[in-house]
Amino acid sequence: MRILVLGSGAREHAIILALRAEDAEHAIFAAPGNAGIAEDAHIVDLDPVDPVAVVEFAGRESIQLVVIGPEAPLVAGVADALRTRGIPVFGPGKAAAQLEGSKTFAKRVMDAAGVPTGRAVRAHNLAEVTAALAEFGAPHVVKADGLAAGKGVIVTDDRAAALAHAETFLAAAPVLVEEFLAGPEVSLFFLSDGDSVLPLSPAQDYKRLRDGDEGPNTGGMGAYSPLPWLSGRFGDEDAFVDAVTRDIALPVVRQLDAEGTPFIGLLYAGLILTDAGIKVIEFNARFGDPETQVVLPRLLDPLSELLLAAASGRLEERPRPVFAEVTAVTVVLASEGYPDAPVTGRPLEGLDAAAEVDGVHLAHAATARTDDGLIATGGRVLNVVALGTTFREARERAYDAIDRIRLEGGQHRTDIAARVVEH
Ligand code: AMP
Ligand code: GLY
Repeated sequence: MRILVLGSGAREHAIILALRAEDAEHAIFAAPGNAGIAEDAHIVDLDPVDPVAVVEFAGRESIQLVVIGPEAPLVAGVADALRTRGIPVFGPGKAAAQLEGSKTFAKRVMDAAGVPTGRAVRAHNLAEVTAALAEFGAPHVVKADGLAAGKGVIVTDDRAAALAHAETFLAAAPVLVEEFLAGPEVSLFFLSDGDSVLPLSPAQDYKRLRDGDEGPNTGGMGAYSPLPWLSGRFGDEDAFVDAVTRDIALPVVRQLDAEGTPFIGLLYAGLILTDAGIKVIEFNARFGDPETQVVLPRLLDPLSELLLAAASGRLEERPRPVFAEVTAVTVVLASEGYPDAPVTGRPLEGLDAAAEVDGVHLAHAATARTDDGLIATGGRVLNVVALGTTFREARERAYDAIDRIRLEGGQHRTDIAARVVEH
């Protein structure tokens, strides 16, 4: 198949590696890509957020499937433009992508679909924020309404910090003050063709920068899959996945369809398992990063067939995807200063030695090749991904590999999947 993948992160590298593993004959194109993706796909000079350019390229190169990795091309209407031309695309149109882009939109859809989520108040000024903070009590949760690259949310016991956060974003738009939801977090992905959904295997993401869930929120510092502790709560993983499919994913997809904005692509449900049941914290309209890096290596079905079936309204015909009974752990290597002000341009060494560790591969995020070798070009630089028969093994492999990589000032968490080893 001739496939175009838009995006440049470790998520996109993971998607491309899964497509490659499934069939080495695929012709895979990527824009803009990175130094790691360049080893596994043809990099093309194409602006991923320019709908006209993407349609033109896809037509010229007889692309049979476009996979949109990040949210920016979705919001720019790239999927709409491709769909209008009859080119199969995995990724929702602009209207349905608001499920991620606008927290107000997401809350309204959940409300209409009867999907459980935290109570929230839309506040237009500091007086309304103050009143809502008092109503819900501590810990306080304040969210910017639009896309904020992981920086829009604060969860804090400090009322003054919550107010200051609200003030920063109020200048532009109303903010949401939300009830705090306590419990473990789960990321569960669904392939959607606009009407039917198929679940993937659950994963857990580590959003805070430092060990012990300290420090600022980030895009994600590591992840593991599957989640063995789900069995204790729900009987088994399938029972949990069935409940989320029935009570959350299907109602939302059906609601969007009924509103004339079908969701075709990846529905990412960010969930908190509270004592009062499973609740949605957020939806994303794309694969999660870094969760994708631990979910896709376990997938046994051919990814291209699943994505194409979703893009062409044929998911109903397919059985639920099957996952290998292996454990997967990924650890993110980030640049000094991430997430606030990452230092870029520094040499990156030791990758070959890292990839030699049994069961380990690398997914690149922000890397470029220069005459002098590889350099880091952004905040999250790369992921080591390790598979194992147990979490202890996968974790040891991941940390053995990351310790072989040299990046001045590089940061990574040392506790990814540590709790699950004890489980
Ligand atoms: P979001 O951008 O909405 O995913 O929020 C980022 C992170 O903030 C989530 O992954 C949670 O860890 C935390 N968070 C967001 N909303 C809540 C909430 N209502 N209660 C507790 N934690 C939350
Ligand atoms: N891992 C969080 C996200 O992709 O939004």
